[in-house]
Amino acid sequence: MDMQLLEVEGLNSYYGRAHILHGVNLDVGKGEVVAVLGPNGAGKTTLLNSICGLVKSDGKISFNGERIDSLKPHERIRKGIGVCPEGRKLFPFMTVEDNLKLGARDENCEEQLKFVYELFPRIRELKNNIVRNMSGGEQQMVAIGRALMSNPNLLLLDEPSMGLAPIILGKILEALKRIKEETDISILLVEQNVHLALELADRVNVLIKGEIVREGRADEMDDLEKHYFEL
Ligand SMILES: Nc1ncnc2c1ncn2[C@@H]1O[C@H](COP(=O)(O)OP(=O)(O)O)[C@@H](O)[C@H]1O
Ligand SMILES: [Mg+2]
Repeated sequence: MDMQLLEVEGLNSYYGRAHILHGVNLDVGKGEVVAVLGPNGAGKTTLLNSICGLVKSDGKISFNGERIDSLKPHERIRKGIGVCPEGRKLFPFMTVEDNLKLGARDENCEEQLKFVYELFPRIRELKNNIVRNMSGGEQQMVAIGRALMSNPNLLLLDEPSMGLAPIILGKILEALKRIKEETDISILLVEQNVHLALELADRVNVLIKGEIVREGRADEMDDLEKHYFEL
């Protein structure tokens, strides 16, 4: 079998004595989109933060065939991980373009900037605007754009649908589909929104109370749309 881009094996995560993730196993292949679906409090953000080295955890995490679980967060990110965090975490009093540039590896980021603006023409129009005054959807575009500025192999998306109206969500979904189809960037998406996950992902994992209770191909999980919250 081809080497996976990201391999997580037996991941346990803790906040103090609270044991949050219980033996999570998860792979993301090259060019693949994998979703982790789970209700509020399931441990989705904890999972992404554990991959980045921000939460105390044990287990094996490999990236591009190399163990990264003993590396510091910035060392892991440098291997080729772009993060779009929960709640966007933009700098509200900076412009769109300055926020984007913060995600770049160095000053020489014209090509990535061009790619991001091409993906989200709306934020090109707003590039000199202060982020604080923009809509939730526009801010989400900036957050995804910033994560792309380092030219990552893997994009981690933490609930991009959060707080967005359906019409805006459609725009975000369209852009994410383009990333999937037009680049070789892999995506690990954590979501509560079943529809978004099934539309975008190749494979889906269901996370409940820190455990993966189900996994499979997205096109074999149509029933999730009806039964997910009863799991
Ligand atoms: N910094 C923290 N300290 C203690 N407990 C936390 C912390 N962050 C999250 N938790 C707990 O961990 C569990 C999983 O949270 P989280 O990963 O944020 O879930 P999700 O992203 O799926 O909503 C929840 O029970 C939450 O209360
Ligand atoms: Mg979360």
